[in-house]
Amino acid sequence: MRIAKRVEQMAPSGIRAFFDLVLGMKDVISLGVGEPDFVTPWHIREKAIHSLEKGYTSYTSNKGMPELRQQISTFLQKRYGLSYQEHDEILVTVGVSEGLDLAFRAILNPGDKVLIPEPAYVSYGPVVELTGGEVVTLKTDLSTEFKLTPKLIEENCSKGVKALMINYPSNPTGTSYTKKELAAIATVVAKHDLLVVSDEVYDELTYDFDHTPFASLKGMKDRVIYLNGFSKAYAMTGFRLGWAAGPSEIIAGMTKIHQYTMLCASIMSQMAAMEALKSGFKDIQEMKREYLRRRNYIVGALNDIGLPCHTPQGAFYVFPSIKKTGLNSMEFAQGLLKKKKVALVPGSAFGKSCDNFIRISYASSYDNLKEALSRMAEYLKEQKRK
Ligand SMILES: Cc1ncc(COP(=O)(O)O)c(C=O)c1O
Repeated sequence: MRIAKRVEQMAPSGIRAFFDLVLGMKDVISLGVGEPDFVTPWHIREKAIHSLEKGYTSYTSNKGMPELRQQISTFLQKRYGLSYQEHDEILVTVGVSEGLDLAFRAILNPGDKVLIPEPAYVSYGPVVELTGGEVVTLKTDLSTEFKLTPKLIEENCSKGVKALMINYPSNPTGTSYTKKELAAIATVVAKHDLLVVSDEVYDELTYDFDHTPFASLKGMKDRVIYLNGFSKAYAMTGFRLGWAAGPSEIIAGMTKIHQYTMLCASIMSQMAAMEALKSGFKDIQEMKREYLRRRNYIVGALNDIGLPCHTPQGAFYVFPSIKKTGLNSMEFAQGLLKKKKVALVPGSAFGKSCDNFIRISYASSYDNLKEALSRMAEYLKEQKRK
C-alpha cells in the first residue's frame, strides 16, 4: 500500500536482475555490461581534477554552464551542420537517462501513446509508463536486421499516438540506419504529425557509414528531441553527463522539471565535458578502431559456432539468435554462466519478443572475447549432446 501503483507495476531491469546472479561468482568473463572497457582519457580526467583543485564546487546555471552549451552548439554545427541556440535550445542533463525522463514527462499527458521499437533499451518503456503514457510496441526481427520501417509505424499509428522513440545505433542490436532509410521514416513521422525522441548516445560508434542525426533530416528539427551524451563515445559513464537539444518550448518544459528535480548537472563533470568536446575526437577514433576490430571478430565467430547474428553497424553489442538451442534466453544465459562462467544478457530484458536472442557486449578485451567464444562453443556442443 505504501508504494505507488505505477511503481509497483514496474518490472525491475532485466539486466540488473540477471547480474545479481553474477555477483559473488569468481572468474566470470562478463560480456554483459553496457559500458566502455576503457577508462576516460587522461586529459579529460585531469580537467575534472583541476576543476576541483581550483575550487569549482558550486551549482551551475540550471541549463548547464553557458560555455558548455556554447560548445555543444558549435560542435553540433561543425559535426552535423545542425543549428541549435545555446540559450534556449540546449539543456545539459545528468546523462541521456535524465534526458529521456525529462523528454517524456515534458510531452506526455496520461493516456498519450508512444511507439517504441523492440528490442528496446530497458528504460524506454518504464519511463513512458511513469508519466501515465502508454507504450505501443513495434516488433522488429533478425530477418530485417531489427530495423524499424515506415510500414511498421503506419500499421501502429492509431489515435492517441503522440511520439516515436528511436535509438540508433541501437542498444541491444547495434543496428543503425542510412540517411535514406531515416528519410523514409521521417516521411511517415511528418504524415502522422509525431514528435520524435531520438537517443543517439552511440552516434560516434558508427562503423559502416556516416551517422545522420534524425534532427538533420528535412523538416524534422522542429519535431525532434535530440538526446546525446558523453558516456559511450568518451568512456565517461561515471561522469553522468548528457544533453538534450530541441524546439525551445520543449526544452523550456524539460528545464522546468530539471530545475526542480536535479537543479543542475555536476560542475566537475561539465568542466570535463568541455575538455572532451575540445580535444577528445582523437580518443574516440582510437577506441572506435578497437571496437570495430572486435565486432568483426565476434560476428564471424558467433555465426561459425552456429548462433546466427547480423553485422551491427554501430554501438558495441551483438544480438545473436539462440533459437536453435531450444532454450529460452534466461535458460541459455543461466546455463552458460553456471557451466562456463560467461555472463551475457538474456534477450528477454529487451522485450517480450526477444526471448530467442542474447545480447553480448564486446566492450571487453579481444582476449576475453576469444576465450568467451571458445567456452560458448563448448557449451553449445554439450547442449547438442543432451
Ligand atoms: C541506448 C542507451 N541510451 C541511454 C543510455 C544511458 O546513457 P547515460 O549514461 O548517458 O545516462 C544507455 C546506457 O547504456 C543506452 O544504452
